[in-house]
Amino acid sequence: MRIITVFIIFTLVFACAGVVADASPTEADTLSHEDFTAYSTCNRCHAITTSQWEGSMHYHAFDDPFYQEELNLASKESNGSLDVFCTRCHIPVGVVSGQVPPIDNPNISEEADEGVGCDFCHSVKESSEIGNGGYVVAPSETKYGPFDDSESAFHESQYSEFYTKSEYCGMCHQITHPTSGVVLDDTYQAWSESSYAEEKVQCQDCHMTPGITEFETNPGRAGSGAPKRDHISVHNFAGANVFVTGILGEDDHKEMAIERLQEAATLEVSIPENAQPGEEVAIEVSITNSGAGHNLPTGLTEARQMWTQVDVKDSQGREIYSSGNLDEDGNIENGIIYWAVYSDADGNSTLKLWEITDVIYDNRIAPTSTATEIHNFTIPTDATNPIIVDTKLLYRSAPQSLIDELFGGEYDVPIVEMESFKGGINGEVGSEGTPGFGSVVGLIALLTIYLFRRKM
Ligand code: HEC
Ligand code: HEC
Ligand code: HEC
Ligand code: HEC
Ligand code: HEC
Repeated sequence: MRIITVFIIFTLVFACAGVVADASPTEADTLSHEDFTAYSTCNRCHAITTSQWEGSMHYHAFDDPFYQEELNLASKESNGSLDVFCTRCHIPVGVVSGQVPPIDNPNISEEADEGVGCDFCHSVKESSEIGNGGYVVAPSETKYGPFDDSESAFHESQYSEFYTKSEYCGMCHQITHPTSGVVLDDTYQAWSESSYAEEKVQCQDCHMTPGITEFETNPGRAGSGAPKRDHISVHNFAGANVFVTGILGEDDHKEMAIERLQEAATLEVSIPENAQPGEEVAIEVSITNSGAGHNLPTGLTEARQMWTQVDVKDSQGREIYSSGNLDEDGNIENGIIYWAVYSDADGNSTLKLWEITDVIYDNRIAPTSTATEIHNFTIPTDATNPIIVDTKLLYRSAPQSLIDELFGGEYDVPIVEMESFKGGINGEVGSEGTPGFGSVVGLIALLTIYLFRRKM
């Protein structure tokens, strides 16, 4: 056991050095943090853009407390061999200017400390590979962007088609473990294999416009003194992070994440109109990834959890069936969780991304796909009618147990209700039930039909 661990650490050290050297041969030798401009300068003319980005997880990519806890643990358990790997996407200016690692450098410059910031993003010339931070950054007078006719008194501007494509985001939103080769985050890959890619719906269309699930124009001015344009991008980079945005008091971004999660899926529940005492009943729950251009959930794949909570009670509130409720420690009880479960080298399941060597299973829902669950129970002979079926589709950023381990019980991980359904057997319940056709179907969100209508 010892020997294996030592061997793994050695392999990690060498492989990480290799990965980093491949991705950026000379950046750290040639770049200084002074080659970059702090966002406070961009803010002078791009105030709206700056205010959108300021509360985002890009702005918080390094000071994010959840990230910091995991970074410190990963660093400790790998003897620092993963420090460059784990920081390259989270504090890119720090890495390319040689300020990070050390991961706890007390003198990180203002330019580096802004996480994934304005001048970093707009100085990326091209990518050397999809994923693992394969950016080629060349800070200069020239800011790259989506316009081919842009003029500014402060900087040169240059059109780059790259900025309008998913491949740009794919530089960081696709992560492969440096030694085991297991894909830890497949956001770009899942998108590239989906109908969204075929129809040229980019990450930017859903994450940099007001549209959430499709491109929507946002007319305005991109800077002070700039001409009015039919569309400028939104820099909120809203995702699904309700947990850390909440801890950091970024309430607007927290609300945006909740709204986004509530647009991501549709829930359909079929229950029989009538059932006799003693009868075995099956209810069918279908979840469709109707709004996300990647797997649902995605991102920090070993931690994100989506699941259904099904409660069946009689009219007096006596429990008949339950699935996906939380126990007193916040663990999900006998429910179906949509996520990826990974194992370490010993074959044990692990939540530590740096230890991952294999995928045990991955049942996340691919873009536009549907997952179906069947829940069986028997109607008790003494049950009072109507029998109430209550179903919720829920999401959280991480298992409570992981956050308790990292933060010693300081935080409750918020649970977001993405969709819900309520219906009755042997009688009507609430407003959703429409009995009379042998089965009651609750179609909660009706946004599937127009999903693929986007800009070309
Ligand atoms: C994660 C990388 C990233 C960060 C961080 C970022 N941008 Fe952008 N920005 C982009 C991309 C990509 C586009 C083009 C989007 C499109 O048109 O599809 C863009 C577009 C722009 C544009 C063109 C006008 C518009 O809004 O479409 C301006 C100006 C701009 N960004 C300024 C900024 C400023 C100022 C900041 C910091 C407050 C910033 N950006 C942070 C990636 C980034
Ligand atoms: C003195 C004002 C000023 C400052 C300071 C400034 N910009 Fe700009 N910038 C503008 C104006 C004006 C435009 C033109 C917008 C347009 O064409 O619609 C612009 C355009 C842009 C574009 C679009 C380029 C393109 O071709 O698509 C980007 C990207 C950009 N700025 C990034 C930045 C970044 C990053 C900073 C900070 C390092 C910054 N700007 C600082 C005024 C400024
Ligand atoms: C069709 C619209 C759409 C497209 C295209 C899309 N997304 Fe998303 N994205 C969503 C929605 C809706 C959510 C919220 C549900 C979820 O977490 O998946 C989301 C969530 C996310 C999250 C947070 C995931 C989590 O659970 O932590 C990230 C990161 C993300 N998207 C990045 C990307 C990137 C990168 C691309 C391009 C490769 C992309 N998205 C393409 C709609 C889209
Ligand atoms: C330099 C690397 C880098 C690039 C390029 C990049 N991102 Fe990110 N992005 C990150 C990191 C790191 C985080 C996570 C920060 C955290 O949660 O600590 C993140 C977070 C996000 C989130 C928030 C996820 C959530 O759970 O709420 C969204 C949405 C997102 N990025 C979208 C995009 C899109 C769209 C693009 C392309 C226009 C892009 N990113 C380009 C590194 C990058
Ligand atoms: C290729 C770029 C990249 C690398 C390398 C990378 N990350 Fe990330 N990290 C991201 C992106 C993008 C996200 C956002 C995904 C999402 O929102 O679900 C993220 C999110 C996270 C989060 C979740 C933060 C939150 O608030 O929910 C943690 C924790 C994290 N990373 C830790 C690490 C550690 C530890 C390592 C090294 C073993 C690492 N990352 C390496 C890009 C990267």
